[in-house]
Amino acid sequence: MKILVLNGPNLNLLGLREPDIYGSGTYAALEELIRAAAAEAEVEVEIFQSNHEGVLVDKIQQAYGVFDGIVINPAAYTHTSVAILDALKAVALPAVEVHISDVSKREAFRQISYAGLACCKTYMGLGFEGYRQAILHLKDLLGGKIS
Ligand code: DQA
Repeated sequence: MKILVLNGPNLNLLGLREPDIYGSGTYAALEELIRAAAAEAEVEVEIFQSNHEGVLVDKIQQAYGVFDGIVINPAAYTHTSVAILDALKAVALPAVEVHISDVSKREAFRQISYAGLACCKTYMGLGFEGYRQAILHLKDLLGGKIS
């Protein structure tokens, strides 16, 4: 079972970036947690981050036939990108949305999630733990334990 974990713009600056909102953990620490979660779930994982919308779209397209599911934190593109939504719908891989912060309690412009419309589940406000939950959820979904 192969899972692609995609992270959008500015998540590479975790640790430095608004630590009151996103915590003090670095992007490297997030990658470590994701790898540990994948090992725990006994799935293969690839982690990819980009600050560029089209690069994320390319990566989603390239996931078709290669990965079994996608965990995605589109970051700011969550709230703007129909292109990422369309890419997720095009490949139709099971996808889970993650947000480190609880976007439901933040600004009005963060209340729409386009990518979320193509995701079967969303974890938000759990910090890095949301990625672990997302991987475990995809594992259960792909393994037929849940529907
Ligand atoms: C985020 C929430 C988004 O609104 C924001 O633009 C981000 C990070 C999160 O993980 O909480 O960059 O996706």
